[in-house]
Amino acid sequence: MTIYVAKNYDEMSQKGAEIIAELLKAKPDAALGLATGGTPVGMYKELIEMNKKGEISFKEVSSYNLDEYYPIEKTNDQSYDYFMRDNLFNHVDIDIKNTHIPNGMAADCAAEGKAYDELVRATGGVDIQVLGIGGNGHIGFNEPCDVFDPITHQVTLDERTIKDNARFFNSIEEVPTQAITMGIGTIMTAKSILLLASGKGKAPIVKEMLLGKVTPQVPASILQFHKDVKIVLDEEAAAELLSEIE
Ligand code: F6R
Repeated sequence: MTIYVAKNYDEMSQKGAEIIAELLKAKPDAALGLATGGTPVGMYKELIEMNKKGEISFKEVSSYNLDEYYPIEKTNDQSYDYFMRDNLFNHVDIDIKNTHIPNGMAADCAAEGKAYDELVRATGGVDIQVLGIGGNGHIGFNEPCDVFDPITHQVTLDERTIKDNARFFNSIEEVPTQAITMGIGTIMTAKSILLLASGKGKAPIVKEMLLGKVTPQVPASILQFHKDVKIVLDEEAAAELLSEIE
């Protein structure tokens, strides 16, 4: 595991983009596992800039997003499908046919999860999985629970997640209470992981993820068992970790 501590959000975003750019230069047809939420927005902006300058191309890239609210239409501006088009896909040379996001209107979530896992499996494991981390330690929408959920599945969002995500909605009542998420097993098949975290609100859980015991109560702690993890933090998110180990 490699941990980078950047000065602030912008530097964290820059570093994250550099890691992805390096992969795309070495492997133009890379399979990217992507995340939504506030954290990766700056990184996506950097990648858009690099693409505009001709430094990287997404022409041969395929992408697999972690999760989607449920039920939600793609056209809803709160859907993660919309988010990805708005924050990345519409601004780079990716072929939209090669982008994949769990179907927020699936009639049968179990079948959707199975089909999505097949798609991810067909890549042989995505080359890099981008992750943020929830304040409660979730990755994707794998919320704290008693067992690590291996496969892509429907989930009821934690109260904490609903509260945290309310900032993107007009009111907390509008936040969906369900989602479809890649399972922990699916995430762990990625060849490499890039987890970004920013801000002091993430400092306690970052320390817990890296120094605490591996437990489904802190889903991100499973990353301690992955063989190729890069964690990019800004100073605020790293603060509690650093004060513990220094
Ligand atoms: C998003 C996702 C979530 C977020 C996490 C952090 O696709 O799967 O795990 O990464 O909730 O969200 P932000 O970045 O908004 O703090």
